[in-house]
Amino acid sequence: MDQGFADSVKNFGLEWSGVFTIVFMFLICFFLWRTLKLMPRTKPVQIKPEAKSSIGWEQIAGVDEAKDELREVVDFLRDPKRFRALGARVPKGVLLHGPPGTGKTLLAKAVAHESGAQFFSQSAASFVEMFAGLGAARIRRLFREARKHAPAIVFIDELDAVGGRRGSDFSGEREQTLNQLLVEMDGFDTSGDLVVMAASNLLEKLDPALLRPGRFDRQVFVSPPDVSGRERILEVHTRDKPLRDVDLAEVAAQTSGLTGADLANLCNEAAIRCARRGGVALCREDFDQALERVIAGVQSRRVFNDHEKAVIAYHEAGHALCAELLPSVDRVHKISIVPRGRALGYTLNLPDEDRYLKTREELIDHMTVLLGGRIAEQLVFGAVTTGASDDLRRVAQIARAMVCEYAMGTAGAAQRAITDGEGDSEHFRRVRDEEQQELAFEATRAARGLLGGHRDKLDELAAALLQREVLERPQIERIMDGVPRLRRAPGGELRAAGAPAPALPEAVIAAVRAPARAKGAAEPPAPRRSTPPPATPGV
Ligand SMILES: Nc1ncnc2c1ncn2[C@@H]1O[C@H](COP(=O)(O)OP(=O)(O)OP(=O)(O)O)[C@@H](O)[C@H]1O
Ligand SMILES: [Mg+2]
Repeated sequence: MDQGFADSVKNFGLEWSGVFTIVFMFLICFFLWRTLKLMPRTKPVQIKPEAKSSIGWEQIAGVDEAKDELREVVDFLRDPKRFRALGARVPKGVLLHGPPGTGKTLLAKAVAHESGAQFFSQSAASFVEMFAGLGAARIRRLFREARKHAPAIVFIDELDAVGGRRGSDFSGEREQTLNQLLVEMDGFDTSGDLVVMAASNLLEKLDPALLRPGRFDRQVFVSPPDVSGRERILEVHTRDKPLRDVDLAEVAAQTSGLTGADLANLCNEAAIRCARRGGVALCREDFDQALERVIAGVQSRRVFNDHEKAVIAYHEAGHALCAELLPSVDRVHKISIVPRGRALGYTLNLPDEDRYLKTREELIDHMTVLLGGRIAEQLVFGAVTTGASDDLRRVAQIARAMVCEYAMGTAGAAQRAITDGEGDSEHFRRVRDEEQQELAFEATRAARGLLGGHRDKLDELAAALLQREVLERPQIERIMDGVPRLRRAPGGELRAAGAPAPALPEAVIAAVRAPARAKGAAEPPAPRRSTPPPATPGV
């Protein structure tokens, strides 16, 4: 019986094994097909120049250098013969780089609209996939389509996603994608009028092979706008909004360090506020409140006990008093102990003008203002709180940059920046740490001197804050009446006002004032901008 059963099972197996194999194969094929279906399909987006949502040059303001540079490319694509006659060739690649929100993607959109050429856009993030080789295939496809429609522009947004230095990727997929991009841009069979544009936030992290001439020959820095640029951006974004008593030049002056995206957000917030209060036109107050919201965050509903309130008031008064006394710090525009965002209170300093260079003394003054809050707490309550963590972090950042990047340490021979590279000796690390400590001590001593010497004003500011919660510029001026700003003597030491200001030689003053630059003289290189954020979120 058993034998018979075993035989029948065996026969069944032998007879049906072929069918099972086919079913099994079919199932495998089915699963593979399903997986492929699930994979995201990304296609390069082709933007037609006459598209409805197109952006024109006039909608981008404050980035004139970048616009000029791109206009050249647009001219080339419109009339290549004129350039060819002189032996010029199309620039292969234009790389727009700069901080987030400065208008890089917007510039690319304008090029798409203005050039009249075919425009293909794809984000670099869509190339990278879990499956090996897929990114490279997508790059090939993007370039193949663009070449078919030459003259054309290929735009790769957020290039950082694939363009990082090679040698740091374990899976190899990103590197393979990057290699394919390198080949397409300047490889064996590159032909046709194809301009590659890309946008990136971090030029330093990109692979050097991408940046060489022949690939991205042109690198355009899209910087945060200056004061006139900000005014024009505000004009662009308030074009469709009714305004009443708003001086956009004044708003521009108050928004140093903000980018185009921040300003667009500011105008939108002001419009929302106006609509919520039932107004018909945006007024100055809408902009003031929107600015506060953009810089310091949304008002929160935390409730503090009386002691905590007093600590916060003295903390902010400490920041404000130091800022009012020190010569190189921006004027205090507003002090508030109404909590916003993560800050429990804040002091808003607004610069009178855009600045591009900072001296060692100015940086120390900036640290002094940051430390003023904690020193005031210590001076009045004899104890420190956890509230100063953000200030301390920023002091550490400034001190580190002063020593490691700008060689502004205290050691007499600090003529070279003390880097914190891997190869530094133990001795160097110790020197670096000591120098940073010393800079922070210098600022602490200054803050202690200022607050101790003007204790009455500190009390007055804190009392006014506790009473009203927010102090505006006129109220601050009233309290500080009769206390002039200090002056800095040539040696860097702080003195009461009245001491003579350091004099420059006559010839230097004349040269600085001379309106026109001599013909043919070289332009000085644009210094790197380093505007600290205007708000000092306090406790
Ligand atoms: N120069 C400008 N003129 C007018 N509007 C601007 C400008 N710069 C930025 N904006 C506004 O900010 C928004 C965001 O800009 P965009 O997307 O171009 O920034 P981005 O530089 O590409 O930033 P990211 O590096 O984060 O991609 C735009 O839609 C626009 O409303
Ligand atoms: Mg962008």
